[in-house]
Order: sequence, then C-alpha cells, then structure tokens
Amino acid sequence: MTSEAHGSIALSVDDLVVRFKRPRASDVQAISNVSISLPARSTLALIGESGSGKSTFARAVCGLVPSTMGRVQVAGVELQQGGMTARDAGAAGIQMVVQDSGGALNPRWPIWRIISEPYRLMQKRRGTELRTLAAKILDDIGLPAEFLDRYPHQLSGGQRQRVNIARALAAEPTIIALDEAVSALDLSVRNEILGLLSRLKQSRELTYLFITHDMGAVVQIATHVAVLYLGKLVENGPVREVVQQPKHPYTRALVGAVPTIGKPRAATVVAQGEADDAGAPPPGCRFHRRCPFVADVCRTTVPELTAYSGRQVACHRIQEIDDLLSEGGRT
Ligand SMILES: Nc1ncnc2c1ncn2[C@@H]1O[C@H](COP(=O)(O)OP(=O)(O)OP(=O)(O)O)[C@@H](O)[C@H]1O
Ligand code: SF4
Ligand SMILES: [Mg+2]
Repeated sequence: MTSEAHGSIALSVDDLVVRFKRPRASDVQAISNVSISLPARSTLALIGESGSGKSTFARAVCGLVPSTMGRVQVAGVELQQGGMTARDAGAAGIQMVVQDSGGALNPRWPIWRIISEPYRLMQKRRGTELRTLAAKILDDIGLPAEFLDRYPHQLSGGQRQRVNIARALAAEPTIIALDEAVSALDLSVRNEILGLLSRLKQSRELTYLFITHDMGAVVQIATHVAVLYLGKLVENGPVREVVQQPKHPYTRALVGAVPTIGKPRAATVVAQGEADDAGAPPPGCRFHRRCPFVADVCRTTVPELTAYSGRQVACHRIQEIDDLLSEGGRT
C-alpha cells in the first residue's frame, strides 16, 4: 500500500521469506518475498485460505518463528532478523493475541497475575503495584474488578479473550497481531470484542495486523487488506478497493461470497480445484492451476506486485481480466 499518504509507518516488512524444514518432505516456503507496510493506526486484515501463510507471517513479525530472509522495521527501527525473539519484538512494541483455545492463559494464576506479568518482566515492577496496574487494564477492557482474583477456568471464552488482549496491552505495544482472535467466539461476543478492539485502537493509538477467515469482521474492522496465496502477496490495498472491488482472480474468488450493502459487486470468479502443496508450489503464478484466465506466461513467469486501480495486484493479465469482467462477464 502507498503508506506515505497516511503519515508514519508503524510496521514495515521488506522481502520476508520464511522457510520450514520438513522431515522426509521438501521444505515449505510459507512466506515468499513478502513486502508490506502498515501505516500507524491502521488495521491490516491478512486474508487467504488455510495454509496460505497468514499465521507464519504474523509469527515471524512477532519473533515466534525465525525468518529466513528479509527485514522487519517497527516505527523505522530495524529488528534483528534470524535471531529475533518474541522478547525482542515485544520490546520493540509488537504483541500477539491468538485464537482462544483455553490454553493460552496459565490455569494456576489468578487474572491479576496473568495480566501484570509483562509489567513484571519488562518494566521490573513489583508487589501491590502489579495488582494496581492489572486493575487499571481490566477496567480498560471492560471487566469488573472482582475478576482480578478469578482463574481462567472460571471465565467464559469471551472473557478469556479479553484477558488475552489485556495481557498484550500490559506490554504497552504499538502494534498487536491478532491471529483469528475472534474466530472461536459466538456472534454477539465476537461483535463485543471487535467493538473493544476498535475502542482500544482509538484510545491507545494502536496498529493492528488482523488475521481472519471472517470477511464480515474484515469489513467491520480493517482499513487495509492484504491477500496471501501460497505464501505470496497477490493483492494489497485499502479495504474499500480490495473487498468491495477486488481485482485479482484469487481475491475475487475469496471474497465472492461476502454480502455488500448498497454497493455494486465486482464480478466473482470461481477458483478451480484445491490449492497446491505449499512445499511444491507451481512455477510462474502460484494460482495458475486454479485460474480460469491462465495464459502461457502465467505458467512460467512470476507476476510482480504492481500498482493498479488504487491497490497493488500481482497478475499478468489484470487489465484484460478487469475489462472482461467489468463488461458483466462472470466465470
Ligand atoms: N512449524 C512448521 N513446520 C513446517 N511447516 C509449517 C510450520 N508452520 C507452518 N507450516 C506450513 O506453512 C504453511 C503456512 O502455514 P500457516 O499456518 O502460516 O497458514 P495459515 O494461513 O495461518 O493457515 P490457517 O488459515 O489454517 O491458520 C502451511 O503449508 C503449513 O503447513
Ligand atoms: S497471473 Fe495468470 S494465472 Fe495468475 S491470476 Fe493472473 S491470469 Fe490468473
Ligand atoms: Mg493460521
């Protein structure tokens, strides 16, 4: 995305590659030369099918998996790559909240201790000060003070997810990566947590990397959207463009089912077959075996991400496809 227009950059990722070794199988290049920047106070939704590399991207940025190559900068300051740890990322201002599986919180600790742990570790605070700080954050995330002495098993899924968010906030981040953070919640609780995230973003001037399969949540919360396909960025831009008027054939297929309110829909595309194995991605455009518009060049040459119609798209035939589909064609 063209971030200069939005002021300062919170997170800048340049040419990131993450490769995993697999026993008795080819390496997986889960993230393949991805470059992206998040303007300060934006919410970038990272979308793509299962296995496209969304979690790996977030985990690499948060220092939870080593990157093979590339650069990550937080507010212009470069983080050490390869050997970067979650602690380094935390110190630079990045925290991660994952889907509530019930296991992310220490079951033996009361909530006040869980929430205040980052203060103890990062700011060397001690004693009753920790409880006071926990009480303040608990209030911020909308839970009453009596929750301070409860344990994770006494909380509902939504309350636990609030505590996960509180714990991330205690580290005083500027960026929070939310990996399927509302996915396990029922609809009303999901909406409450999305509302909470929006309020916190305003009051604490946060930037979010928001990973989800839930296109409704993308429309509700995101300012920008990036689409991954087998570890490659295929489309990236403001949410209004990418979700309401998707251009890349894969994005059109992915967001095709999203209901829109009072806006004309871009023509959808039906992707053929299943995604290829990330360990052996096809040459050229990684989407070519499933794309109804495939041409010879797509089978041999990797399409570069280039500016097109208010966003970036990686597709050799983008103009032709756009012309064809805007004439009302539907494949
Ligand atoms: N630790 C690992 N070792 C080997 N391969 C891995 C590892 N973690 C992820 N992968 C592989 O990397 C690719 C990307 O996985 P990732 O979990 O990032 O996808 P995702 O987009 O988050 O999927 P989902 O929507 O299912 O959460 C997949 O092919 C996955 O099998
Ligand atoms: S580059 Fe070719 S195969 Fe890939 S999305 Fe575009 S038209 Fe389809
Ligand atoms: Mg994932």
